[in-house]
Amino acid sequence: MRLFLQLRKYITYIVLGIFTALAILAVPAFTQDDPVTIRILMHAIEAKQWEILEEKFEEEHPNINLEIVEGPNATNLVEDLYTSSFLLGDSPYDLVYMDIVWTPKFAAAGWLADLSDRVSDEELAAFLDADVEGGRYKEGLYRMPFRSDAGLLYYREDLLEAAGYEPPETTQELMEISQALQADGEVEWGYVWQGKQYEGLSAMFVELLDGFGGFWIDPETKEVGLDRPEAIAAVNFLRQTINDEISPPGVTTYTEEETRRFFQSGKAAFLRNWPYVWSLANSEDSQVAGKIALKPMVHAPGYDSSAAQGGWGIGMVKSTDHPEEAWEVIEFLTSEDAQKAFVLEHGYLPSRRSLFTDADVVDKYPQYPQFLEVQEQAVLRPPIAQYSQASDILQRYLSAAITERMTPEAAMEKAAEETRNLLDT
Ligand code: GLC
Repeated sequence: MRLFLQLRKYITYIVLGIFTALAILAVPAFTQDDPVTIRILMHAIEAKQWEILEEKFEEEHPNINLEIVEGPNATNLVEDLYTSSFLLGDSPYDLVYMDIVWTPKFAAAGWLADLSDRVSDEELAAFLDADVEGGRYKEGLYRMPFRSDAGLLYYREDLLEAAGYEPPETTQELMEISQALQADGEVEWGYVWQGKQYEGLSAMFVELLDGFGGFWIDPETKEVGLDRPEAIAAVNFLRQTINDEISPPGVTTYTEEETRRFFQSGKAAFLRNWPYVWSLANSEDSQVAGKIALKPMVHAPGYDSSAAQGGWGIGMVKSTDHPEEAWEVIEFLTSEDAQKAFVLEHGYLPSRRSLFTDADVVDKYPQYPQFLEVQEQAVLRPPIAQYSQASDILQRYLSAAITERMTPEAAMEKAAEETRNLLDT
């Protein structure tokens, strides 16, 4: 009996041992089948909107788990998060969802993989030129265009029509129409724009500056135009909108989202913003749904409309352990199918030229062929490696000028001087 019990114990050990060995041997097999995770960080508002892309991608690529990490909404705050992850080393991200203005800095720092060998010139020719250019640094390509962006003027078509106004072309007309509508009690405020000290202020200003015949930094000659009369006139216009009570005083603290909500609640006649506003401002919970239209930005008399060239693309983190899978994600996101689905659902601008005139897209957004023209005139923020410092300087002094802590002349003189020093170093 004892012998039998002992034998049973040994057999149990042997069986357990065999199972354990089998389990250990089996682990690598299971691991191999585990999907690879590809991680990307982006601003919160878009992270939610990417759900349709994530689902579509994972359905087609069961070997890859696309993980979208939500960041803050301001582009420069997301940039800071990426930057610190690279500086600390061992970044948790495989892909970078990149604003067009980040490329020179991220590429110069060596944080991104050069994608030139993965994509041909013919393939790139299908995208808008400025969006492709926004991904180049020196000889390399560090960002594939996902969606384009351009600054626009939204207006209350219902109010303008009822009062017999044509949409404004010049800054002067915008102010006059605003004041008339405000005086008639049609609307509380005239014009909302992004005045907070952040990247959106630089983007809004570069387009206004161009519409006043001025410039920020010439990327070729490194000449700085911030203290020229055109730049001062542009700052004066912004200040006047507040002083004449066309814009609410809070505008100096607003980013895109605050201005969108303000306009959407029916409190203003005009809004400067990006195309993403169109779908949201026409959604069910918007007070202005069906009452709005958009057009190229107003400009100073004698000049043309301009639009800040914005836009987002995807770069690959140089140190990723999974470059092939990361590239599969990039190929999917920049494909015509994925872009079309995203554009139709959320009203962003595509980066592929053909989608601006695609029948389904035009059916839903009749204004897109016109956007293509706006896009061709878009003005870039200076594509230089020190861009984020240059933008910080401009934001600081613009903010001082519009909140009346400095005169426009003094502020722009300081901004120009500091920018020249930065470019000299
Ligand atoms: C939009 C633009 C981007 C710009 C940002 C500023 O997201 O696409 O290029 O930097 O707005 O807030």
